[in-house]
Parts: sequence; C-alpha cells; structure tokens
Amino acid sequence: MITESLAITSERTTSRHALLNDIFYEGSAGEYKQAIEQAREAVLHFLENNTQPFSGVKPATMKAAVAAVNLEAPLQNYEELIAEVHDLYIQHATAFHLPQYIAHLNCPVVIPALAAEVIISAVNSSQDTYDQSAGGTFIERRMVDWTCEQLGFGNLGDGIFTGGGSQSNLMGLLLARDHFALRTDGVNIKKDGLPPNAQRYRIFVADTAHFSNQKNASLMGLGEQAVIKVKTDQRFRMDTAALRQAIETELAAGNIPIAIVATAGTTDFGNIDPLREIAALATYYQLWMHVDAAYGCGLLLSSKYRHRLNGIELADSVTVDYHKSFFQPISSSAFLVKEKDTLKIVQHHADYLNPAEQDYEELPAQINKSITQSTRRFDALKLWCTLRLMGKEQLGIYTDMMIETTAATAALLQQEEDFELLSDSDLGVLVFRFAPARGIADLSALNLSIKKSLFFDGTIQVASTKVKGEFYLKFTILNPLTTVAHTRDILEAIKTRGFELIG
Ligand SMILES: Cc1ncc(COP(=O)(O)O)c(C=O)c1O
Repeated sequence: MITESLAITSERTTSRHALLNDIFYEGSAGEYKQAIEQAREAVLHFLENNTQPFSGVKPATMKAAVAAVNLEAPLQNYEELIAEVHDLYIQHATAFHLPQYIAHLNCPVVIPALAAEVIISAVNSSQDTYDQSAGGTFIERRMVDWTCEQLGFGNLGDGIFTGGGSQSNLMGLLLARDHFALRTDGVNIKKDGLPPNAQRYRIFVADTAHFSNQKNASLMGLGEQAVIKVKTDQRFRMDTAALRQAIETELAAGNIPIAIVATAGTTDFGNIDPLREIAALATYYQLWMHVDAAYGCGLLLSSKYRHRLNGIELADSVTVDYHKSFFQPISSSAFLVKEKDTLKIVQHHADYLNPAEQDYEELPAQINKSITQSTRRFDALKLWCTLRLMGKEQLGIYTDMMIETTAATAALLQQEEDFELLSDSDLGVLVFRFAPARGIADLSALNLSIKKSLFFDGTIQVASTKVKGEFYLKFTILNPLTTVAHTRDILEAIKTRGFELIG
C-alpha cells in the first residue's frame, strides 16, 4: 500500500516537474541555459548585422505584423520564440549602439552592465526591504553614497534609485512642496492633502526645461499653471535676471513661490543653467532648489569638464539618469538629496512590509525612501558592475570624447554656409537647420521633409525640435564611437537630401 502510494507520488512529482520546466528553479537549469543561449544569439546577430540605425519599417506594416500573431497558439520551443521576437522586434529596433545614431538621448550600453542585467532579472530581488534584498540594499546605498560624493553632497546626502528622470524629478518637486507646506503653514500634505493656498504655489523652470516638470506639477495636484517658464539667454540657459523678475511678479500677484528647478543639460541644447546664481536666488527667497541633471550628470565622470557642473552641490536635490549619461541600460536613474532627513517625509509604514516600530538601522528598508515603487528592480547592480570593472576614469574619457566630437561638429556647422546652428553645447546636443544660401521661404517645412524622408530610409536618424515656432533638426551625440567623420557624413546626407527636395 505504502509502496503504491510512493510510486504515485513520485510519478506525480515527475510529471509535475515536466510541467514546471518553464519556471526558474534548479530542475530547469537546462531549459534556462537553452533559452539564454538563444536570446544571446539573437543579440549577437543584432550586434553583428545591423549596419544602419533603423530598418525604416512603416507603422502600418509593424502594426499588422504584431496583430497577426495568434496569442492563443503558443510556440513549440525557444528557437521559434526567439525567431518571432527577432522578426517582430529586434530587426526593427533602433540601434542606439551605432555611431551613426545621434537622435534622442539614448546612450550605447557598457557590457558589465549587460552582465548585471542577466543576474538582476533571474535572481529578481526586490529592493523594498532587507529581507528581500540583503546585499542589494547595501550595494544600492553605496551607489547612492558614491553619487552624492560626486555631487559634492558629502556624507550627509541620501537618495534612491528610480525608474527614470521624470520620476526622480517628481520626487524633487514633491519634497519641495511638502517641506514648504510644513515649514510655512504647518500643513502635512501627505496626511491632510493640499491646503487651500496650494493653488497659488509656483515652481520656476527655464523655458527649455523638460516637460516632466509640468506633468509632475499636474500629478501633484498643483496643475501645470503652477510652473512658471523663465526666459533663457543666448545659449538657451535660464536667465537669472528674468528668474528674479518672475519670482517678484508672482509674489506681487499674491502667489507663493516654492521651488526652482535648474536644468544641468537641457534636452534640446545640452546646456547648463547658471547653477550658482540660481542657488543664490533660491537661498534669498528660501526656495527649494532641484537640479535636473538627468542628462548632464555624465559630467560627474569627467576630470576635464566636471567644472561645468560647479554649483550643483548647492542644490537641495538632484536627478541623475545613469541610463542617459553613464552608459547604463534602461532603467537606471536616481534621486538624491543633500540632507538625508528631508527624504523622511515620504515614509509610509505597512505592518506587512515596513512596520513603524521596526529599527531601520538594524533592518534597513529602501522602501522608506521611495514614493512611487514598492517592488523595485535592483538597477544599482548595473552601475556597481560598471564601476567595479571599468572605473569612473574610463567612463569619464568616453564623456570627454562625446563632448569633443560635438564641439568639432559645431565648428563644422558654423563653417558650412548651407547650415544654421543655434547654439554650441556644454554636452552633446546641436540644434541646427539646412538653410541654403539661395534662400527658401519655408525653412521649417523643408527641414521637416528632410527629417521624414531620411527617417524612412533608415540610414540616418536625426531628432528635431521647435524654437520660437520654427522647426529645427537636432543631433544628440551620446556615443564615444561617434566621430566628426560620422557627423560630417550625416550633414552631407542632410544637405544632399535638402537640395534634392528643393530641386
Ligand atoms: C533634462 C531631462 N530631464 C528629465 C528627463 C526625463 O527622463 P526619463 O525619460 O528617464 O523619464 C529627460 C528625458 O529626456 C531629460 O532630457
């Protein structure tokens, strides 16, 4: 009887194991190896065979291909699966790693971070509490402390990894708002909600600042109306005389300034707002100063150009996007504060996760510093592996190379009579347009046509923006492999297409 029941149990276990082969556990190590091997082959194929940034596929073709997949009919094996992923996704993926890709703020990634990604997703730690990520908690803290040191915050700083710059910026504004209400009116917004005068709260940003500021103000219940756009100077950086004027105007209207967001590395020009002057105004008016260094943080790595960030140490909080300027795979961002105690305002306790009575020195919980995520990826491991294997200096050299390619490209654009460059860059962004000497009535329409037609060729991808209502092309150079020979070729192609279009 007992033997019979054991036989049944073992049979069940065997079939159960067969059934559970897709789950990551010790019995499926073979399956795991096979899957990763197939995925790795697909990545290598992407690396070795993609010669242009984009395939040029049209949205209608892409939409139809994805829609044609029957989700009720699973595939037979990993070969089929990865082949399908290749067809639907990889072969049309924008190749950020190619030196010819100079469109948006996407960096090529470094290989130690890719090794870390393999570990992060399989081990799958969640960074909320020590009991879910022991080493991860302290590795993240070391990476936060290291970043604070680079910022000049010293050992009083603190912070948390987030999913991206928009989220990090949200934390900056949230802390600004909540500390302001507590300090000036004794209002605890976290508990009691917005006070009636919150409608009059004002946040000052340059007119070139990232649109996450408006999105975040609206998320925080202040509305986009709370964001005052300050005029910029010749190089599209915040004009501090205009900032002072804007603050005075709002005060005179009975509104309540609470924060200034300075940008270190604007999305459109890669320029840095005058941080020291802004800090002086923030101190004078007792405003929170947040620096959005999502892009400009790369300068922290460079011994040659680090001084361009001078003044960042005066901020109350800073956004750093490692996935823009530290060659890290998406996602990898951090929100940092100069005074660790200021972060306490976001703490919430739950008996099942981080009870109020817990001693957090003894049992740390990163969740206490996070506003939008409970379950959170161990992104910090990527930065850790990068620094441990490559070191800051190597990354800094890459940053210098990009800055120098950009400066050389700016010089090219200035020499070329058929191009118009709007500004040089502290980092790697150039806004320009094809403006042939013979004079064209609608330069915006012409440059838009150039961009569109090159995009669907796939060989060249440039970004674009509008300045004072006019359409411009934009280079964002974030790849140390990009040289001035590449940018010269791209400019040549733009020019050729431009002349073709005007006939
Ligand atoms: C200056 C700046 N801040 C914030 C962001 C938002 O970052 P993310 O896309 O990681 O949310 C960007 C994105 O381009 C940016 O350029």
